Amino acid sequence: MTAVERSPEELERVRKRVEELRELIRKYDYYYYVLNRPLVSDAEYDALFRELQELEEKYPELVTPDSPTQRVGAPPAEEFRQVRHAIPMLSLQNCFTEEEFREWDRRVKRMLGTEEVVYVCEPKLDGLGVELVYENGVFTVGSTRGDGYVGEDVTNNLKTIKQVPLRLLSDEIPVPKLLEVRGEVYMEKEDFKRLNEERAKRGEPLFANPRNAAAGSLRQLDPSVTASRPLKVFFYGLGRIEGYEIRSQEELLRTLPKWGLPVNPLWEVCRGPDEAIAFYKKVLDMREELPYEADGIVVKVNDFSQREILGEIARAPRWAIAFKFPAEQRTTRVLDIVVQVGRTGVLTPVAILEPVEVGGATVSRATLHNEDEIRRKDIRIGDWVIVQRAGGVIPEIVAPIPERRTGQEREFRMPDRCPVCGGPVVRPEGEVAHRCTNISCPARIKESIRHFASRRAADIQGLGEKVVDKLVDSGLVKRISDLYRLTKMDLLRLEGFADKSAENLLGEIEKSKGISLARFIYALGIPHVGERLAEILAENFDSIDDLARATEEELMRIEGIGPEVARSIVEFFKNPENRKLIEELKAAGLNPRREVKAGPLAGRTFVFTGALSSMTREEAKRLVEELGGRVASTVSRKVDYVVVGENPGSKYEKARALGIPIITEEEFLKLVGKK
Ligand code: IVH
Repeated sequence: MTAVERSPEELERVRKRVEELRELIRKYDYYYYVLNRPLVSDAEYDALFRELQELEEKYPELVTPDSPTQRVGAPPAEEFRQVRHAIPMLSLQNCFTEEEFREWDRRVKRMLGTEEVVYVCEPKLDGLGVELVYENGVFTVGSTRGDGYVGEDVTNNLKTIKQVPLRLLSDEIPVPKLLEVRGEVYMEKEDFKRLNEERAKRGEPLFANPRNAAAGSLRQLDPSVTASRPLKVFFYGLGRIEGYEIRSQEELLRTLPKWGLPVNPLWEVCRGPDEAIAFYKKVLDMREELPYEADGIVVKVNDFSQREILGEIARAPRWAIAFKFPAEQRTTRVLDIVVQVGRTGVLTPVAILEPVEVGGATVSRATLHNEDEIRRKDIRIGDWVIVQRAGGVIPEIVAPIPERRTGQEREFRMPDRCPVCGGPVVRPEGEVAHRCTNISCPARIKESIRHFASRRAADIQGLGEKVVDKLVDSGLVKRISDLYRLTKMDLLRLEGFADKSAENLLGEIEKSKGISLARFIYALGIPHVGERLAEILAENFDSIDDLARATEEELMRIEGIGPEVARSIVEFFKNPENRKLIEELKAAGLNPRREVKAGPLAGRTFVFTGALSSMTREEAKRLVEELGGRVASTVSRKVDYVVVGENPGSKYEKARALGIPIITEEEFLKLVGKK
């Protein structure tokens, strides 16, 4: 059928349904991607989306550029069109110390002739500045900042970011005739890490930091590549606006979400420099915990009419300043590159560095992942290198500084014999990793026992590194299950054990038989299964045998489990060695079942943020679990309480934003009957 043959009534009926579907999908997208609060199940959403796609396929004349179906599917471009910003996108002046910041504040006050200025402070995200144009509520053009005057047209790429509304919401307030809204496209640290891990596996070059990853992902001629990258966006600024008045930054940040435009929930109105400095310190303290890289805060004069008075200088406004955090990159020297053997036999090269302070911690080692990575980065023993703490904690070498080479540097070569057991090392076809092939390599055994006994796994106190060394080196323990056959006599024969310490360790080992299913799964050390995934698995399977029987398809139906993890789990349980270990552990008395949540906190979920004064996080978690409750690592609608300790992190802000009950440590202790 062609459009001509359709009756006007039929077309009208379909048009109505299409509009209805778009409305619903827009609303569901907004709740899901902007508010993090899904309204419907994935299946329900998919059904609506498919219905819309089918109708649009059948009635192409009804397709509009702002239809939710139009996010992906634009063809690759030859080159980026240039877009001139109606109002230039300025850059920011920087300051690095409290004194410089106070100096700026005094200048602002002097120019405005006031005693005190009201500021709005926001984290400065390390991403890519963009401008999006909405005409009568419809997204028409999106561009990068470029040189501030002319940027690149990345409209189709921006459309693939689910947080970007293709049409503004108008339920609460009317939409402006014209809106040029500015913000930052960025990548969360976790997503960045995952992306790089995937790239490493495929042998593709790695991105140096989340900023480069975001920029590289957005500036793609083929929008389907952008669509596959985990990009996010926060809005914080205005270009032109017509048909709606906004008079201050505070008003802007409160208004944008009403149009469906995501705003970073972490911002504050600050009266005077002291409050701004307090905000700076707060964000600096929670920097590690923030899901994104922040390289400072931006302090902006709140009142737009005051901004006009201040004007700009040298391409930067006088009304805003970036108050930068101390650098998290330093230079140091690679003293040596050593090789570690992990519990799966993988040989990991590790750089031994001249100790250097980076972002508040001393760094003396950095993993180099594998030989390919060392080649790719061309890191040599003796090199001067740039180190950084990526995504917070794990130090890494960004790049060598070849200009500082003396000719004395040595290239690293992976040994062909295991440095621990002397067994042959192979690099399996298609893998980047070298492995020690000796399954009874003491390094592998020690590592797997250490992991098994660690605090977050079986939590066998007293089974530290040294004791594991003694147990394995003496031949008493050859596999994890041997731990459960140890006798007091055995231990007393070892150096350093006395009556009491031997009894304590045996008591701890005995206690570990009561291990929860989640901890047990984690303790097994299944590749790719960390603590969080272990928890998810434990919520979905009744016992370890139940999990062992799961197929890849079954596993992938669980939210949070992708194909790679599913494959890894199935492989693990296929391995006869692993099956044998599980049988032996079961025979020793470890056979956890899915937790029957009983107890006063049954069904309650807690999140902790900040330092507790009366106990460690681990102890608090145990306490909640003993009483039948659950501890989650991230704040979502499903959380019942957020417990705030000293110096709380972003979880606190998120809880506030979501309206989740926030309680103090005192209140928590009362709740669990400890006070
Ligand atoms: S305001 C003239 N706010 O930093 C006002 N910028 O170094 C400039 N940025 O190009 C923008 N987070 O891409 C502003 N909360 C924030 C920001 C932010 C990151 C970026 C932005 C800008 C660059 C200037």
